[in-house]
Amino acid sequence: MALVEIRGLHVDFGSPARPLPAVDGVDLDIGAGEIVGLVGESGSGKSMTGLALMGLVDAPGRVRAERVAFDDQDLLALSMRERAKLAGGRIAMIFQDPQASLDPCYTVGFQLDEAIRLHGSAAERANPTARRERAVSLLREVDIPDPPQRLHAYPHQLSGGMAQRVMIAIAVAGRPRLLIADEPTTALDVTVQAQVLALLARLRREHDMAMLLITHDLPVVAETADRVVVMYAGQVMETGDVPAIFEAPGHPYTQALLDSIPEHNEGRARLRTIAGVVPGIDDRPTGCLLAPRCERAEPICSSERPLLRGGGAHRAVRCHFPLLKP
Ligand SMILES: Nc1ncnc2c1ncn2[C@@H]1O[C@H](COP(=O)(O)OP(=O)(O)O)[C@@H](O)[C@H]1O
Ligand SMILES: [Mg+2]
Repeated sequence: MALVEIRGLHVDFGSPARPLPAVDGVDLDIGAGEIVGLVGESGSGKSMTGLALMGLVDAPGRVRAERVAFDDQDLLALSMRERAKLAGGRIAMIFQDPQASLDPCYTVGFQLDEAIRLHGSAAERANPTARRERAVSLLREVDIPDPPQRLHAYPHQLSGGMAQRVMIAIAVAGRPRLLIADEPTTALDVTVQAQVLALLARLRREHDMAMLLITHDLPVVAETADRVVVMYAGQVMETGDVPAIFEAPGHPYTQALLDSIPEHNEGRARLRTIAGVVPGIDDRPTGCLLAPRCERAEPICSSERPLLRGGGAHRAVRCHFPLLKP
């Protein structure tokens, strides 16, 4: 049994009479301790998928699904209060802009203490000294130099990389079994990006924590994830194990994403990228969502939406003309 089981997830905007799908029937499993990369261009519905799992989609967005389960518990059946208790505790989330997620008015120590008070162990919740010790050890764990000193720092005194480490420390304060990381390194420069990814990979190993790693950046997934789910315009286009997908993508969209990675283009004069942008939620083609941008499209692609077909948990492709025969 997977730690996370999502079946038929929809997030709709627009009116109930004319729903506009930001997420359109997504299935997603995450095994215990597994890192699943959720990739796709901006506007694909990645963040909405993560927010729906966290229970954080705000009105006017509407969430429905056949099943959203965490540790075999039906999340859709929980009250708002039970759901809120889970969020920040056994399921935690970090975002692209750590400075915006931290409160500028409070010190790092205060914000860590608050997380530990809400989501720490019983002993920590009851005891300020235990909380302080835990706060110091959390900062140490995310490689922040001189933790006792840093407890007194305000967010604006931290670099982007340090602020993201603090956010990660706050996220893991409740010893989550799942961390949803939405573009966690996108705002950071390349060197710091690599350090933060290495940190996330280490935390996963040491705490057997599963991760949904959301990114538009395929190399981030290649480096960190076990499995990848490729989203486009609200739907899953391809899913599979990382080595297999990078070796032989099954969907022309995955192929195009791979082709746009510089190191896959050595010797070429220009990057081969896909022209155009992800269609908006009120502008989705009837046939294959990618058809208008796909250089392999045939007439059937514009008239009939392909199903996600394939090899069980490990490889599935939504394409009338997949690059590999399943
Ligand atoms: N509050 C909103 N109202 C209407 N449309 C929205 C809203 N929030 C997001 N969307 C749309 O939902 C789609 C998916 O968005 P998002 O999940 O943020 O994509 P991603 O994270 O892959 O870039 C986009 O087309 C976006 O414009
Ligand atoms: Mg996003």
